[in-house]
Amino acid sequence: MAKDSVRHLAAVLAAAALVAVARGGNSNNNNNNNPLTTDSDCQCYKTNGTAASYFSHHRFFDFGSLHRYVNVTKPIDDFRANAEAPPTSSYFLRPEFADTWDIQRWDNTELMALNDETINDATIKMVNSPNNIYIEHDDDDDDDDDGQATHLTLRTVRHAAGFQSAAEIESLSKGFRYLSVRMRARTRGARGAVTAMFTYRDPPPGQGQGPDDDYVAQTQEADLEILTREDEPPTRVQYTNQPSWDEAGDIPEATRNVTLPRGRRWTDWVDYRMDWTPGSSTWYVDGQPAARITFQAPRDPLQVIFNAWSDGGTWSGRMPVGAEAFLQIKWIEIVYNTTDKHPGSSGGGGKAKEEEDAEPEAGCRKVCSIDETSRIGTPVLLSAGTSAVAVSALPWLSALLTVCACFMLC
Ligand SMILES: *[C@@H]1O[C@H](CO)[C@@H](O)[C@H](O)[C@H]1NC(C)=O
Ligand SMILES: *[C@@H]1O[C@H](CO)[C@@H](O)[C@H](O)[C@H]1NC(C)=O
Ligand SMILES: *[C@@H]1O[C@H](CO)[C@@H](O)[C@H](O)[C@H]1NC(C)=O
Ligand SMILES: *[C@@H]1O[C@H](CO)[C@@H](O)[C@H](O)[C@H]1NC(C)=O
Repeated sequence: MAKDSVRHLAAVLAAAALVAVARGGNSNNNNNNNPLTTDSDCQCYKTNGTAASYFSHHRFFDFGSLHRYVNVTKPIDDFRANAEAPPTSSYFLRPEFADTWDIQRWDNTELMALNDETINDATIKMVNSPNNIYIEHDDDDDDDDDGQATHLTLRTVRHAAGFQSAAEIESLSKGFRYLSVRMRARTRGARGAVTAMFTYRDPPPGQGQGPDDDYVAQTQEADLEILTREDEPPTRVQYTNQPSWDEAGDIPEATRNVTLPRGRRWTDWVDYRMDWTPGSSTWYVDGQPAARITFQAPRDPLQVIFNAWSDGGTWSGRMPVGAEAFLQIKWIEIVYNTTDKHPGSSGGGGKAKEEEDAEPEAGCRKVCSIDETSRIGTPVLLSAGTSAVAVSALPWLSALLTVCACFMLC
């Protein structure tokens, strides 16, 4: 009897040890056991999905609790005054925003003056305005957060004065080379607008300055676009590795027209993700693969851009006069590699801490994830340098327990 229970105990101990070893080797798949950590404890970030990769840097921009920066501005009905408008709140001047993002003021008058439909078929003058970028309350009926929750809004407006105002934020850095960029966002408002999250690389110097055949061909750009056009169902989004047309017409391999999963609409809050890895662009919606395009995948370092616009061309369509449309963003998250010398800063003003960050050594030891986390924006540690030691000790523990068990049985 006593011998039996000893044998039983030994078997249980040995089994437990084996399970522990199996778990140790498999800890990356264990969602709940990955501890929340901070970026200073991460040497690299491993993404999941069909183009899983490692990245050296992580940024998270949370627009969800910016109650004290809320300022929903009235549209400005003068073309020039839109370009000259100040930021709508001091949030946009704070380093956590302004060190990474640049609010745009450009207009399309030069593009329209080219009078070349193969480059641009706008029929309405358009100007980007800081006045169309603001922090706003969610105003959701189903909000259980006493109405304090906020988001970033990018607005586009068709003005009675004969022009369109738009909104665009571009990364200051043009040095992103491979990334996974995500946003939780929704698109609302009138028909005839485009909202987008995309990567973009300027044509090389000397190209694209005039009506140049190479202008379009030199573009490197990967897009998520939401079209609010009359003929677009609110369940469809468009993915493209630009250019999507040439003299011969549309290039079907460059683009995908995709239905959002599980009946989602782009008017709902949706998690959009785009991974740019060597040779492909891969898009996800709410953690599900949505599209992958290898054709014309961007190659060289580039910018990350978000916008809301309309110019009366065939792609956007025309908005009714006086109408507005919005890209509303809860948060933006990026893991990336960079060709910048001082990642996180772009021409000064960056954080000293990041400038000291060394590129991860070959064989990054402290591997983190932004996918497996229970708190969006906060990474979890998948494997720490030290846990490698702990895991390698487990077989010893197992062997010891087995020896122990045999000893008790004999
Ligand atoms: C990535 O991991 C998260 C968390 O486990 C999951 O929800 C998501 O679907 C995964 N995405 C892909 C593309 O595998
Ligand atoms: C990013 O850089 C790290 C460190 O150099 C490298 O190991 C990793 O493969 C790079 N990621 C991609 C997608 O190229
Ligand atoms: C809101 O924005 C307007 C227009 O830029 C500005 O005049 C006003 O001072 C802002 N209000 C606050 C509280 O920041
Ligand atoms: C995408 O497909 C839907 C359904 O066929 C269609 O209504 C829509 O016009 C298409 N969008 C584009 C941009 O081709």
